[in-house]
Amino acid sequence: MVDLIVGLQWGDEGKGKIVDLVAKNYDIVIRSQGGHNAGHTVVVDGKKYALHLLPSGVLNPNATNVIGNGVVVYPPQLIKEIKNFGQGIKEKLLISDKAHMILDHHIAIDKAREKLRGKNAIGTTGRGIGPAYADKIARIGVRMGELKNIDKLLNKLTHYYEMNRGYFEYLGVDIPKAEELREKLQEWRDELGDMIVNTTNYLWENMDKNMLLEGAQATLLDIDHGTYPYVTSSNTIASGALTGSGIAPKNLNKVTGIAKAYTTRVGNGPFPTEDLGKAGDRIREQGAEFGTTTGRPRRCGWFDVVAAKYAVTLNGCDEVAIMKLDVLDGFEKVKVCVGYEIDGSEIDYFPSELDEVKPIYVELEGWDKSALVRKWEDLPKNAQKYIEFIEEKIGTKIKYISTGAERNATVIRD
Ligand code: IMP
Repeated sequence: MVDLIVGLQWGDEGKGKIVDLVAKNYDIVIRSQGGHNAGHTVVVDGKKYALHLLPSGVLNPNATNVIGNGVVVYPPQLIKEIKNFGQGIKEKLLISDKAHMILDHHIAIDKAREKLRGKNAIGTTGRGIGPAYADKIARIGVRMGELKNIDKLLNKLTHYYEMNRGYFEYLGVDIPKAEELREKLQEWRDELGDMIVNTTNYLWENMDKNMLLEGAQATLLDIDHGTYPYVTSSNTIASGALTGSGIAPKNLNKVTGIAKAYTTRVGNGPFPTEDLGKAGDRIREQGAEFGTTTGRPRRCGWFDVVAAKYAVTLNGCDEVAIMKLDVLDGFEKVKVCVGYEIDGSEIDYFPSELDEVKPIYVELEGWDKSALVRKWEDLPKNAQKYIEFIEEKIGTKIKYISTGAERNATVIRD
């Protein structure tokens, strides 16, 4: 049985809290795309950990964690996270031999290209994600399994650097010295080698166990279906998670989509419901909307049911979680986008080009306090109406409503 958790907006929806809530139900937790551009903070026994590459199953001592073939792995980051978390988790961690490696030059290229783009920069996390996936698609990438034969890998990389010399010079990116590179590759093999296996086979052999595919980034950042080019470089939607793990569609049991009660975005790109005034500032402050990975202030605005319906459909969601409802506490009115205006006409679907659309809002009555509420009947009437309004518009059950950071500040509906 395989369940999947996926973000429905532009990321940072609070997937980590729902994963934390349900992680105990799973024997295997799998990351299937993205890399250390993802990030969430978890608290275990009072100690704070920032997870970027490690699957959230590390929170459950009994779960096995899998970094699937669709992930791009920056070995120094993974080694660091393992050290922070405790070497014990090595016994519960498997890394796909087919996962591609992020090397230092990918990070340097990411940063150099963003600089060259100037005001058209994507606003990437600067982690080398795009350049590593570009090499994968161009069939010149390096996979984790290649750490097994360092001489062969070094030969391949020497040829790669030779082939790209002109491009590297243009961007001002250094080509590493062979001996330094060898030392690094050897260290990575020593630290990670035992965990690098064919994870696809492992997952197939364990299909009778309970598995959770943990999405990173989110639907509107999907390379195909997001707001291209202001997207990440992987397929972040449910079907991408299957490709990124080798699990067949027929094994998928349940898809849970996660959205915030409002919308945020980091980086550039269209965001129709962004509020550049006081409401946006208030949401940022109340919701502590600053990035876990880069610390950047997030752009904030209202809930967009057009985008949410699009995301729910793309992912085939069975249920939805609405996070951080309490951040909207105290607003006299709350706005919800129910359609877009484009070239003088109204549309109710998510277009391929989002740049030109203007949001069409309805205003609902606000509520005083939903913070820390744990039962549906204890939510203020207007908060219930807000949830029911969204539920009706997206046509999918809202199963979880989060009303605070703590695990138990959650309404779970039958
Ligand atoms: P990249 O993934 O670093 O290439 O960045 C591409 C876009 O995706 C940028 O707008 C980033 O801010 C955004 N992004 C990447 N990872 C995350 C994430 O985990 N949460 C939110 N936004 C992200």
